[in-house]
Amino acid sequence: MSRQFVVSGLRPTGRVHLGNYFGAVRNWVELQDRYPCYFFVADWHALTSDYADPSKIRQATFDAIADWLAAGLDPDKSTIFLQSEVKEHAELHLLLSMITPLPWLERVPTFKSQQQELNDRDLNTFGFLGYPLLQTADVIIYRAAFVPVGEDQASHLELAREIVRRFNHFYGPVFPEPQPLFTATPTVPGLDGRKMSKSYGNTIPLTAGADEMRALVMTMFTDPNRIRRSDPGNPDICNLFQFHKLFSDPATIARVDRECRAAQIGCVDDKKLLAEIMIEILEPMRARREQIDRDPSIVWNALRKGNERARERASETLGMVRKAMQIDFPELR
Ligand code: TRP
Repeated sequence: MSRQFVVSGLRPTGRVHLGNYFGAVRNWVELQDRYPCYFFVADWHALTSDYADPSKIRQATFDAIADWLAAGLDPDKSTIFLQSEVKEHAELHLLLSMITPLPWLERVPTFKSQQQELNDRDLNTFGFLGYPLLQTADVIIYRAAFVPVGEDQASHLELAREIVRRFNHFYGPVFPEPQPLFTATPTVPGLDGRKMSKSYGNTIPLTAGADEMRALVMTMFTDPNRIRRSDPGNPDICNLFQFHKLFSDPATIARVDRECRAAQIGCVDDKKLLAEIMIEILEPMRARREQIDRDPSIVWNALRKGNERARERASETLGMVRKAMQIDFPELR
């Protein structure tokens, strides 16, 4: 087991879908055997954009943790916690804000792009500008070496490294520079062929029940040029086939490829086949999720334990930070 620490988080967006699973969670499950890992739900980050309607955050947090556990994250191996329960993140965020030049935050590309994309609300807030600084605090408070994230988070990690250099330059070497860990992840298309994303409403939940899975797979887009059953299809542009590549065995993939091109298998037949394969492969995770829903204390207990472990490491770091910044009064403790 390495002594280098791994940290990653996700905003609470609800049930884990196949895009989240293949893009992040599956990778976390592998990392937990090799590194001390800290994985958390970033509920404060959810507030940076959803402050006017926080009504979904609580359930989304529960669903995320429940699915992480169902997917194989193990609270005995990883520290699984909730950001807002580890107040040390907030103190570090505040202290870092003192040394963070405004232009560094204003030029983070997601700041402007997200403001444009989420134009139904006012994101000209202090909290939203500070999003990547809070993320910096999330990472460096564990003195993390690696942060497994998608490419979309590259600029946030870049900022984290710049802040670390500035901090260490002023106050001495407290923090290592965190490196992103971009792992090769398959692109998972959504039901409509665009990238699978909650905001497109095209997701498939990792722990979908059998009937839900069958119904969802039936709505998948296939080769748009294949209109009649007798038309030969092109698996290369068929969404369904991408899922075969993720779930089916090589022989099935080869057979579907051949029979689709020869119009021997129809799209509906193929959907029925694929749905049953996905249901079977995902069954252990679905069953585990059902067990958690029958006993939600599994989630709360995992979090209580994780929060505690996270606080230990976070407060150790914060002690070093307070000393380095000379905001430290041991006489008062
Ligand atoms: N910004 C990340 C996302 O949108 C979530 C996040 C918050 C995060 N804090 C983090 C990721 C710290 C990695 C490390 O997915």
